[in-house]
Amino acid sequence: TGMVTVDPGFMNTASCESQITYIDGEAGVLRYRGYPIEQLAEQSSFLEVAYLLIHGELPSPADLTAFEDRVNRHTLVHEDFRTFMGTFPRNAHPMAVMASAINALATFYPESLSFDDPEAVELATVLILAKTRTITSYVHRSSKGEPLLYPDYSRGYVEDFLRMTFAAPYQQYDPDPRVVAALDKLLILHADHEQNCSTSTVRIVGSSHANLYASVAAGINALSGPLHGGANEAVLKMLAEIQANGGDATAFMTRVKNKEPGVRLMGFGHRVYKNYDPRAAIVKQSADDVLSALGAGNELLDIARGLEEIALHDEYFVSRKLYPNVDFYTGLIYKAMGFDESMFTPLFALGRMPGWIAQWREMMTDPQTKIGRPRQVYTGATERDYVPGDRR
Ligand code: CMC
Repeated sequence: TGMVTVDPGFMNTASCESQITYIDGEAGVLRYRGYPIEQLAEQSSFLEVAYLLIHGELPSPADLTAFEDRVNRHTLVHEDFRTFMGTFPRNAHPMAVMASAINALATFYPESLSFDDPEAVELATVLILAKTRTITSYVHRSSKGEPLLYPDYSRGYVEDFLRMTFAAPYQQYDPDPRVVAALDKLLILHADHEQNCSTSTVRIVGSSHANLYASVAAGINALSGPLHGGANEAVLKMLAEIQANGGDATAFMTRVKNKEPGVRLMGFGHRVYKNYDPRAAIVKQSADDVLSALGAGNELLDIARGLEEIALHDEYFVSRKLYPNVDFYTGLIYKAMGFDESMFTPLFALGRMPGWIAQWREMMTDPQTKIGRPRQVYTGATERDYVPGDRR
């Protein structure tokens, strides 16, 4: 056995080769399959980006329509699954419910569990994309004790997600097209981000040849932590706390810089970006547009802007190259759209699903793939003899 070196947090370890997502953290560049994130956010749609990430190329119009139809037709969930979705405690965190639901999905579709049958993998892909939309809306509704609605095949992915989330039963509800467009764009921005914590989790679970459902459910659990996807919820809690304490951003920043235990500027900093997160730049613009279009209260947005303004000129943040990340402004938009804070991270998971699937599929077809099994450097006791209880 050769020399093993410890690399905490895998700061310097590449776990794979990948052709899906390119990040230049110094320059603040993000591309999916070579296409700049700015162009995709502006011109593409979430399902088209999903197709691009998973299949490697932009679809022809006919291929896109076929893909959208196939996903759309699978959005209905089994009646027993609806019952299952209603059995969680009302105050359960939606991320726990969502991870459980995606894991449980596997039990309904045994024909889609094979990792080496391309048709089964394609079926699992479509089923997960379709059902996650329904599940995310059900997670919201069951947390409120509201009846779960059925999908409407005549509507688009994001439009019907919003209808199933917010419509009253038996009532015509047409989501605001500006909200549909804004959420579509946010989902595109979240769709992949190469080997982050949750994606690495999906790959390592899948490397044991666990099925796609088990792998992405593990990804949801990894995403739930406040240092990862949970940051969007934590940002809003932080902004609300600053507001409740009179809106003094400078006082809060002093606590951050003094490294008070548990006090970080949430939504700031990134392992790879040492420059402005290109997603955050798009989201910031979008927050301005959406909040003013919806006439939503801007007080929290003002606090967020104030924090950013301080950070961009403060030695602590400048010297550590800490900039806003994707989570800094998203919560403000989700809140203006009517989502509870606990739904912010499930929305991240809904958006990230195509990336997790694409990465899992790339791994499964990569001849270099081996089971993920890191080494360690042992620092415990050397050999010693067992001591019976009466002599300890
Ligand atoms: N507020 C205050 N100080 C920070 C922050 C922050 N948000 N982020 C990093 N630092 C400091 C950190 O204390 C350390 O200082 P020092 O060198 O004096 O010890 C230095 O910057 C480097 O930080 P690190 O923790 O070693 O960096 P990392 O690459 O291990 O962590 C991170 C990256 C994203 C976990 C971290 O920046 C963080 O906790 N940010 C807040 C949570 C957050 O917004 N997460 C979302 C990430 S983006 C998308 C997503 O995954 O959801």
